[in-house]
Amino acid sequence: MVSNETGDGVCAADSLEVMNLQGNMLWHTDSTFLPVPALVNILVARVLPSSSGETELASTRTGWADLPAGLRTRLKNAILWHRLSHSRSKISAELAALPVMNRWPDRPWRAIWTNPATGEEALYIASHAFAIEGMGLEQGQEVLDAATAICTRPDNVYTHKWRAGDVLIWDERAMLHRGRPWPYDEPRTLSSICCSATDADGLIQVRVV
Ligand SMILES: [Fe+2]
Repeated sequence: MVSNETGDGVCAADSLEVMNLQGNMLWHTDSTFLPVPALVNILVARVLPSSSGETELASTRTGWADLPAGLRTRLKNAILWHRLSHSRSKISAELAALPVMNRWPDRPWRAIWTNPATGEEALYIASHAFAIEGMGLEQGQEVLDAATAICTRPDNVYTHKWRAGDVLIWDERAMLHRGRPWPYDEPRTLSSICCSATDADGLIQVRVV
């Protein structure tokens, strides 16, 4: 469940639970910090607030195609390093320090994921990406931020305004997504299922180690 409700009711707006949900409001791809990342996410609206709380999606296939030549050159054969606590540190140092945010070693993936069925290339990027192999941390973050900004420019973003029971399914290899804020004194609960990517989905080509 992706929710601000526990058995005790709605979590406080400044709680770690809500802060973790705010981590999902950074543009990301699911599970890039895991040894086996997600292929698709299936999201179902269960309980909705009176306003806001949308989910937004942006194609990193069109984003990659639209990157200027300089960024494409830097990313074409790049290896990006991912770490869950990196994205959480953008929300709160306390959140990032939780053991659950530091369970996995840093995870490298090649920056371009080619769909083996169609041959289409997409930029495999996420808020969890903290470094580019062989590049200084600061410069790497600048490249990652610039590429994310182009992928998520307003005319490349779909905003889904939820109705109860709606289902969204997307290809994690070629999309960035994020949640949007809502009035935190109201409950919002989505069911989320991530299916793992397999070598047949192109994982073997982006795997580094
Ligand atoms: Fe997500």
